[in-house]
Amino acid sequence: MAQYTRNPPLDASDLDRDPMQQLEQWIAAAREAGMIEPTAMTLATASAQGVPSARIVLYKGQHDGGPVFYSNYQSHKGRELQENPHAALVFWWDRLERQVRIEGRVERLPRAMSDDYFKSRPFESQVSAAVSRQSQPVASRDALDERMRAAEERARAEGIECPAHWGGYCLRPTVVEFWQGRHGRAHDRLCYRWMGEDWRIERLEP
Ligand SMILES: Cc1cc2nc3c(=O)[nH]c(=O)nc-3n(C[C@H](O)[C@H](O)[C@H](O)COP(=O)(O)O)c2cc1C
Repeated sequence: MAQYTRNPPLDASDLDRDPMQQLEQWIAAAREAGMIEPTAMTLATASAQGVPSARIVLYKGQHDGGPVFYSNYQSHKGRELQENPHAALVFWWDRLERQVRIEGRVERLPRAMSDDYFKSRPFESQVSAAVSRQSQPVASRDALDERMRAAEERARAEGIECPAHWGGYCLRPTVVEFWQGRHGRAHDRLCYRWMGEDWRIERLEP
């Protein structure tokens, strides 16, 4: 059984008043610790009937105090977020023995922000985002490669724009928990709750 002993004890007085600033500090620490994908987070969504699904997406900064990620609006997650905006995010950095959990409602980013971000991406990623019917069945790898190749050719000739079915989301957080491993499973858990005007931080039992 692994013992988590890497970090000194975590206290509310160690944390930034703003959980999103605190998150940035922990992501920076994960990057410094050599994590391959320090911004990878599990996104959990649910259908209108409450059936959950989860997958990893990349954290791409903040908008209006909430974490941002980009995806296909017609994907499985996109359809679930359309019918049920409640979602949760989880980061886990094993090298730091740290977890962050975030809960809230998801909104689409303003179109202009998605367009700007799309433009900043490498050409292949732009083509892939535009062409992929994310989460739909495809007949074969060859069929997909052929569609990608044709789209790449067209994009080289005509240029490429951010398609309407692709863009950013922002999760407006109401709960953000910082978890740090401690010896003997007596872990530190500090949870921010949005009280309408400010964040309240409380310690939770491990
Ligand atoms: C490290 C990693 C990063 C990923 N980043 C993204 C991302 O930022 N956006 C995205 O749509 N999918 C991303 N994916 C793929 C998703 O996990 C998932 O396969 C895809 O979004 C389809 O999910 P869905 O069918 O539930 O909609 C990533 C996967 C991994 C393993």
